[in-house]
Amino acid sequence: MTHTPTPFPEGFLWGASTAAHQIEGNNTNSDWWAKEHSATEHVEQPSLDACDSYHRWSDDMDLLAGLGFTDYRFSIEWARIEPAEGHFSRAEIAHYRRMVEGAIARGLRPMVTLHHFTVPRWFEERGGWTADGAVALFARYVAATAPVIGTGVRHVCTINEPNMIAVMAGLAKSGNDGFPPAGLPTPDADTTDAVIAAHHAAVREVKAINPEIQAGWTVANQVYQALPGAEDVTAAYRHPREDVFIEAARGDDWIGVQSYTRTMIGQDGPVPAPDDAERTLTQWEYYPAAVGHALRHTAEIAGDIPLVVTENGIATADDTRRIDYYTGALSAVGAAIEDGVNVAGYLAWSALDNYEWGSYRPTFGLISVDPETFARTAKPSAVWLGGLAAGRELPRVAA
Ligand code: BGC
Repeated sequence: MTHTPTPFPEGFLWGASTAAHQIEGNNTNSDWWAKEHSATEHVEQPSLDACDSYHRWSDDMDLLAGLGFTDYRFSIEWARIEPAEGHFSRAEIAHYRRMVEGAIARGLRPMVTLHHFTVPRWFEERGGWTADGAVALFARYVAATAPVIGTGVRHVCTINEPNMIAVMAGLAKSGNDGFPPAGLPTPDADTTDAVIAAHHAAVREVKAINPEIQAGWTVANQVYQALPGAEDVTAAYRHPREDVFIEAARGDDWIGVQSYTRTMIGQDGPVPAPDDAERTLTQWEYYPAAVGHALRHTAEIAGDIPLVVTENGIATADDTRRIDYYTGALSAVGAAIEDGVNVAGYLAWSALDNYEWGSYRPTFGLISVDPETFARTAKPSAVWLGGLAAGRELPRVAA
């Protein structure tokens, strides 16, 4: 492997991402906490203390800044900010403002996600996204975050992976049979419409708070690849699961691209990866080139708005595979930039080994966290990736 400096656009974002529920711990007022402790949901492990980042966010930021990163994406938790309908917590708003200021003080530009999968328990109990008034309630919450994001925050993500929200709603409606062996369940169309409306309302609220804020959302890209003759089947399969959410971002300031692996589609739909394919701890096919395809596809659909890789990474216990994965991924990002794709940043998933929605087993982190002491240890991949960030280079895989 050789290292060739790559001309990044001015202000390129180099960072790592997290989400509140996955790292904070004791997010007791959220729908996910309720689900984790329900007798009927069968969640493998509850999140409990997670990484205790609610108290230790400054340790996380110290490490990321010290490693060389310039950007940190984290989410703020609606369930804490509005613990009961219409009641906003000044203390929690002040907590998240301290995080924004803490990031800036360390030289990390904060990217703030307003919603990352969890909602307040009361919101879920009144019917979630498709209940009457849901969009207005989300918009009111967004308006209430003004003291957090009003100054010093350039990028705001309204809703993380709206397509996965619609997919999970579809799965629940169909009786919760679990994921198919390949591909994704059918998204719920009403949820799709609701989250798109919520996004557009949220963008208006964010702009009302400060028109300088760059507002967007982040879409999960599955990198659907057509087997010979299955191009039309692939396009039809992909549209409700992905493209409709990218189309909804036309006119935004930027769009987030999140990619981990690929999905192959044959005449009869998704086809599992071959038995001998390398798989990660999430059982996804090891496919570092995914992010390059995801960027190119998003650019085709979204038009010329800046793309930010807001999540990309691998669940593995073998950190050398993580470095290998990021090497391949960054090489694909570099090639896309050279081909004229407007890529404004790259944020790895994830800063920390964290709560992977039901289990702590899949470790995506650049930094490990001791479950008893919460001590953080940067892995070799963190040192390596932070070094690239500090040097503003992309690794190249020798031909
Ligand atoms: C989500 C993260 C998640 C990651 C790995 C994305 O779907 O935004 O919350 O941990 O992928 O599964």
